Amino acid sequence: MFKRHRNLRKSAGIRKLVRDVYISADDLVYPLFLEEGTGIRTEISSMPGQYRLSLDMLDAELDTLNELGVNSVLLFGIPLEKDPFGKEAYNDTGIVQEGVRQIKRHSPDMVVITDVCMCEYTSHGHCGIIDESGVINDTTIEYIAKIALSHAKAGADIVAPSDMMDGRIKAIRDILDENGFNELAIMSYSVKYASSFYGPFREAADSAPAHGDRKQYQMDYRFSIDAVSEARSDIEEGADIVIVKPALSYLDVIRKIRDTFEVPVAAYSVSGEYAMIKAGALNGWIDEKNIVMEKTYAMKRAGANIIITYFAKDIARWIKEDK
Ligand code: PBG
Repeated sequence: MFKRHRNLRKSAGIRKLVRDVYISADDLVYPLFLEEGTGIRTEISSMPGQYRLSLDMLDAELDTLNELGVNSVLLFGIPLEKDPFGKEAYNDTGIVQEGVRQIKRHSPDMVVITDVCMCEYTSHGHCGIIDESGVINDTTIEYIAKIALSHAKAGADIVAPSDMMDGRIKAIRDILDENGFNELAIMSYSVKYASSFYGPFREAADSAPAHGDRKQYQMDYRFSIDAVSEARSDIEEGADIVIVKPALSYLDVIRKIRDTFEVPVAAYSVSGEYAMIKAGALNGWIDEKNIVMEKTYAMKRAGANIIITYFAKDIARWIKEDK
């Protein structure tokens, strides 16, 4: 006797009956790059189909997202001016803060998540305040907390620190609580590797470090036990949701975090993953829809509850079409 595995693959109906992994538009978060200025809708050359938008172009984008049922966005800002201290990042009328207000006016039910970091705002492109030895951890977390507070005051639903300083979640939780934002959630980029898959993003957000790299603060992908340790610290300090980033090459890490902790896990399918698939698809070498769905299901199967992806609109459309 041998097991007939094919019995449950016989028809589309049976395959649908036994499947146990699902994706819904409700799980998707769409990243938006907001640039200070007017009349800007610039396609990012290494991310075909993705744009930097000025706020006057934002309403049309929100209409599209609403139509497709994508209910969550993650905001990145590109300011006009950068300086060593990233002042624009905590300017109460900065690009992200104004973006949050506009989204909340236009689409009050949209879940607005803000990326809390300094690399798009500092002239040197590092994720914090630097001296000759590198990014100074304890000084930087004071700035990171200030940025999170200004996003909260603008009306953000969730703040998402991506700087990778130690102690930042506690610093953010403290400043939010002191200012009456006790119930504002923190989605922490807890498990964030120093990755070459962020290359296209750095063009998109104009945030490449002017010198050096981020290996002193982002994680080393050859040190595997660090993932649980990072997530544990953030959860103990008050993180409500944990991000694993990148996603596709780190499915094992997503599974480990899902099995170890009792918080929602978000997989961030990053710019390099998007760029590779787009490049293959535009050359006619791969089938874009089927590849995107397959790898997004893989992230779900690995245990991700939330998927942050530049393909969010496409996935939502394909789910609708296939119904
Ligand atoms: C900011 C930040 C980065 C990404 C998200 N937030 C870049 C980096 O850390 O260098 C990357 C996202 C992507 O590649 O899609 N620190």
